[in-house]
Amino acid sequence: MKSIIIYESVHHNNTEKIAKAIAHEIGGELINVRNMNTDDLNKYDLVGFGSGIYYNKIHKNIKKFVEKIENADKQKSFLFTTSGRGKKDFTEKFKELLNSKGFDAVSTFSCKGFDTFGPLKIIGGINKGRPNEKDIKNARNFAKYLIQ
Ligand SMILES: Cc1cc2nc3c(=O)[nH]c(=O)nc-3n(C[C@H](O)[C@H](O)[C@H](O)COP(=O)(O)O)c2cc1C
Repeated sequence: MKSIIIYESVHHNNTEKIAKAIAHEIGGELINVRNMNTDDLNKYDLVGFGSGIYYNKIHKNIKKFVEKIENADKQKSFLFTTSGRGKKDFTEKFKELLNSKGFDAVSTFSCKGFDTFGPLKIIGGINKGRPNEKDIKNARNFAKYLIQ
């Protein structure tokens, strides 16, 4: 199975850490969304998207990329996010968008990420050290489940 992870990670590379762990586990390629072309998507059987959460949304580069896709080939797809809150509720809307583009968006993974946005900087940020070893382990388990 040929797979790729397309990600954006602009704050502290939190999402990139998770992306690397998943890509390693599934033996997939890893690419920043800015270097990916939508025409190349049909080479892959499994397509993952990863993003930090900014103002309650996935990064605009990921959203724009997915919006540009004309018609995915019912490929299996998954998505993961890191955020200050670490909640999954940011992922549902994006899952709907993937499905509307012809993907089979199956599963999601989310965890907390180090966050020094705005006033949080004054207190040295929140979620220091996240994603941590446990988060990486959970991401690897998620990846194992994906390729089962
Ligand atoms: C401009 C900005 C806006 C953010 N907005 C949110 C938010 O709405 N909710 C949240 O839980 N975290 C928010 N965060 C925290 C990030 O989602 C978190 O640090 C994430 O792990 C960043 O991922 P990255 O290092 O891969 O960019 C925000 C961070 C930044 C810089």
